[in-house]
Amino acid sequence: PTLHVITPTYGRPVQKAELTRLTNTLLHVPNLHWLVVEDSVQRTALVSRLLENTGLNYTHLNVETPENLKTQKKPRNVRFPRGTMQRNLALRWLREHINPNSSHKGVVYFADDDNTYNLELFEEMRWTRKVSVWPVAFIGGLRYESPKINSQGKVFGWKTVFDPRRPFAIDMAGFAVNLQLILSKPQACFKLKGVKGGYQESSLLQGLVTLSDLEPKAANCTKILVWHTRTERPLLVNEGKKGFTSGSMEV
Ligand code: UGA
Ligand code: MN
Repeated sequence: PTLHVITPTYGRPVQKAELTRLTNTLLHVPNLHWLVVEDSVQRTALVSRLLENTGLNYTHLNVETPENLKTQKKPRNVRFPRGTMQRNLALRWLREHINPNSSHKGVVYFADDDNTYNLELFEEMRWTRKVSVWPVAFIGGLRYESPKINSQGKVFGWKTVFDPRRPFAIDMAGFAVNLQLILSKPQACFKLKGVKGGYQESSLLQGLVTLSDLEPKAANCTKILVWHTRTERPLLVNEGKKGFTSGSMEV
């Protein structure tokens, strides 16, 4: 099966560094299709050049998150959707470009540009029949969150502190979906409006599976193969000071 890895990305000082690091990871993954979706009005030269130079099999898309979704008045626990429209566009691309009746076998994974991925993860998820799940480190205020697995090897709940009653209390980095399932449920997508923090993943998964369908990976969810790392924003306080500018070099 082909791994369709979907990565939303947006312009900021560390973007090229993040995408370089993720490229270096993905270069080790066989049979990969990388869908990179920029949160921008246009596909940028920086990302276009970077992708061209990787030699990876990729599709480069873009859709800008409208300003009103970022700033509109909303209840305190509703977060502005980071990467949501971009992931939905990639799902649409797959549905429009892959014939569900073809023999193409694939698995879809949402890989944010700033996480850290063990290469074993990609081989684990490649054999997803419906939706596979595994623990994610550094999320929800914990060293890791994980699905709870019973003695039959079935998921029966969520080892989390933050809102464990969410239907799927799992981070974006903690699951993969069989492509046929995505194609056979064309309505399933990430909800954009009124989604409480931590409910984005549930909004997609509820349209695809129930708890009993989930397939635990990473040695029955006993191994960490992905870390929800977040990159520190570089302090650029001296840019423009005393007539100093670092010029036009791409960083
Ligand atoms: C957490 C989850 O791990 C994300 O998968 C989820 O999208 C996010 O919360 C959320 O609830 O919205 P976090 O580290 O806070 O992640 O989010 P980021 O890593 O900043 O953003 C997630 C992805 O969206 C990244 O690939 C990022 O490049 C992209 N993004 C972020 C955009 O495309 N546009 C933005 O304005 C911000
Ligand atoms: Mn992140």
